[in-house]
Amino acid sequence: MLSPDDDKLIARALSMRTRAYAPYSRFTVGCALLCDDGEIVEGCNVENASYGLCICAERTAVVAAVAGGRQRFTRIAVATGSSPPAAPCGMCRQFLAEFLDADKDLVVLLANDAGEKVETTLRTLFPGVFDKAQLASGQRGEGGPA
Ligand code: THU
Repeated sequence: MLSPDDDKLIARALSMRTRAYAPYSRFTVGCALLCDDGEIVEGCNVENASYGLCICAERTAVVAAVAGGRQRFTRIAVATGSSPPAAPCGMCRQFLAEFLDADKDLVVLLANDAGEKVETTLRTLFPGVFDKAQLASGQRGEGGPA
């Protein structure tokens, strides 16, 4: 059973599917990102005739949040038409992980328009994340390998 706040976040993600620009895949994704100041930032997938330029809903939400001055996130809701509800792609998992504090996790709520809901976390979906600490420890020069 999810909390009323989680249901609200999911409702925002579901409604964002209507904003998706997905003429090529016809697979609409909506996303709502809860920031640690209580603000909700939304996203949707945005596709392009040059297919490789398509951007996922999760990344548009993160980009909008960062551009708005927010970099700390506590929960994310992702809504699709898939059953069971689809989880963020690998690229989005890495993109979201960039903003994880070392000792924290991000709650990931997956939902669809049939009312199915799944709660998981980013670290569950994406163990072995490549992060800034690993980058720093492998960089040439000061503090890292020569
Ligand atoms: N898509 C997302 O928005 N998020 C994901 O995590 C998986 C895929 C989008 C990208 C593309 O516009 C469409 O769904 C089909 O892959």
